[in-house]
Amino acid sequence: MESRETTTTTERSETDTILRIKNLHTYFFTVVGVAKALNGVNLDVPAGKVLGIVGESGCGKSVTALSAMRLVVEPGRIVEGTITLNQIRKQGNGYKVMDEVDITSLDPRGPKIRSLRGSEIAMIFQEPMTSLNPSYTVGNQIMEAVQLHQKVSKVEARDRAIDILRRVELPNAEAVVDRYPHQLSGGMRQRAMIAMALSCTPSLLIADEPTTALDVTTEAEILDLMRELQADMGMTIVFITHNLGVVAQMCDEVAVMYLGRVVEQAPVDDIFYNPMHPYTRALLQSIPRVRVREKKRLEPIRGVVPDPYSNISGCPFHDRCSDFMPGVCEVNVPAMVTVPGDPQHAVRCFLHSDATEGENGR
Ligand SMILES: Nc1ncnc2c1ncn2[C@@H]1O[C@H](COP(=O)(O)OP(=O)(O)OP(=O)(O)O)[C@@H](O)[C@H]1O
Ligand SMILES: [Mg+2]
Repeated sequence: MESRETTTTTERSETDTILRIKNLHTYFFTVVGVAKALNGVNLDVPAGKVLGIVGESGCGKSVTALSAMRLVVEPGRIVEGTITLNQIRKQGNGYKVMDEVDITSLDPRGPKIRSLRGSEIAMIFQEPMTSLNPSYTVGNQIMEAVQLHQKVSKVEARDRAIDILRRVELPNAEAVVDRYPHQLSGGMRQRAMIAMALSCTPSLLIADEPTTALDVTTEAEILDLMRELQADMGMTIVFITHNLGVVAQMCDEVAVMYLGRVVEQAPVDDIFYNPMHPYTRALLQSIPRVRVREKKRLEPIRGVVPDPYSNISGCPFHDRCSDFMPGVCEVNVPAMVTVPGDPQHAVRCFLHSDATEGENGR
């Protein structure tokens, strides 16, 4: 094992990165103990691309998204780390950074984060009804979002709302604009939610499992639509999902999370064809592949994800890992390092580097 200089994220220039998360710790201080939901997340969100976040239930995908939006509420709190938003604008073939905002330093209820939400970063929540208010029509909710960020009259805002509803291919947008969320089907609600998130043309859209509640046909339509809108608007998307099939279809890059940390980040092809973390490999072996000829048994990942209240020493995956190295993996937490010759591929595992994050980092 050679020792290499450690990085916290992939090696990417500032201008190509819209959001950079470094060493983020978000804890929930509950009556039964401290749940360390995020335990040192490092993540680069590449501008103009779709970044997938995958990992088993409870690994911290939603909490990462909520932390970036500053929507973590009591008893949760960001206790360490930084989240930097680069406000970038397209310039020629690249991007120019207009402003850099340290999101972690903002008052979560203050005017700055409120103005960034919607106009710069928007989120589609895992639960559609979390973002749609049942007592207002879909149109009113989109109009409110539009008027919050832009100086337009009520009539103009309504026209915009209808326009956006058409854009997300909701049939009969002129009628849907006056409907309440409960009067829509699940698929229509999902489209309405996407419309609301897109109403102020955010640079970064975080979509947290936006299609899990839908049938496969509707899911495929919504995914196509999001990809299309992303290409049209040059938007960046963070796409959170359990489904590696969806990742293959949607994403340019992938971050794999395990127990409150990103353990590998790489372009989508590298994740599928050259996975370097044993957890990424195990995740891939646990899903069926259509194109593989020989009948390989699907391997469920042995063991269960430890709960975030437990204190595990060393790499948190060590007791489930088929490459476990006694005396190494249970002693220290591996650092995130970039792969030599592949600056966009970063991995956190002692198989690839002996760099540590710190003695018994958890
Ligand atoms: N309000 C809360 N109070 C206590 N613990 C919480 C709270 N919210 C989240 N957690 C804990 O933080 C950890 C990460 O949760 P998170 O919702 O980010 O998981 P996830 O990766 O999105 O999972 P899923 O795939 O099931 O949506 C979990 O162990 C969860 O129990
Ligand atoms: Mg979640």
